Amino acid sequence: MTDLPAIIPGGGDLAAFLSANKPAVDAALGDAGALLFRGFDVPDPFAFDAAVEAYGEPGFTYEDSLSNAVRTNVTPRVFTANEAPSTTEIFLHHEMAQTPIYPSKLFFYCEIAAEKGGATPLCRSDWVLDRLDSEAPDFVARVEAEGVRYTNVMPDSDDAGSGQGRSWRSTLSVDGRAAAEERLKDLGYSWEWQDDESLRATTPALPAIRELEDGRKTFFNQLIAAFRGWADSRNDPNRAITFGGGEPITSEDMAPAIAIADKLTVDLAWQSGDVALVDNFLVMHGRRPFEGKRRVLASLVA
Ligand code: FE2
Repeated sequence: MTDLPAIIPGGGDLAAFLSANKPAVDAALGDAGALLFRGFDVPDPFAFDAAVEAYGEPGFTYEDSLSNAVRTNVTPRVFTANEAPSTTEIFLHHEMAQTPIYPSKLFFYCEIAAEKGGATPLCRSDWVLDRLDSEAPDFVARVEAEGVRYTNVMPDSDDAGSGQGRSWRSTLSVDGRAAAEERLKDLGYSWEWQDDESLRATTPALPAIRELEDGRKTFFNQLIAAFRGWADSRNDPNRAITFGGGEPITSEDMAPAIAIADKLTVDLAWQSGDVALVDNFLVMHGRRPFEGKRRVLASLVA
């Protein structure tokens, strides 16, 4: 098995390294699914922004995304990873796979490592799918044929106390109900306004399995995170996911995928100054709970 993440030890300027070695970096990323640049000189978010810029691929902006997480921009290409409380675990997911638009890669930068906990769990999604296909072939065949739908209740204004707290105004980049409905219609979502001005939205059937350019297939979806983690004052994880045809995906359906993914997960224990690059189509990520101050920033590649 390839190491996850593959460690690229170095020194000096990461921006210079990335612009000089992009083909080799991309080959290593395709092989391992995630790379950890350790020992380079990345003192602050501006140096991180410069490294991402030097890598030379277009950015995927938070404003344009339909992400559910509350985030804040730190530099033009860099934002806070997720402002959910430190005690909240963010379960394994492919970034924004619960929406029709998602980034291809993610950069993370550890500015301040937590005193305790706060690792980023990583999990190879092609390996998960391989094992799941032998343990639960009917489930795999069904999600492959039908796709999956996600339901999320978005508040009227940002709720930083929840991992799912981004308001519908911000998520949809709109300022009122009429514009929200227009955007949802364009996206193929169905919706229902709630008494407290929150918005329950359900996606069209989205693919749950993705075939990569080289033929590998991955469990590219947000099922584990939605099922285990979409719980707050508005959201009930038992109503968060269904098969594409509308039938609920049950805890019995999810148990094998969760067990396999847990077994294959490796924790990236951060050191301050680390930069990681994750292939969003091949590797799932999450966030362990932590104590003390932790600052891990993110930058997405379109
Ligand atoms: Fe994420």
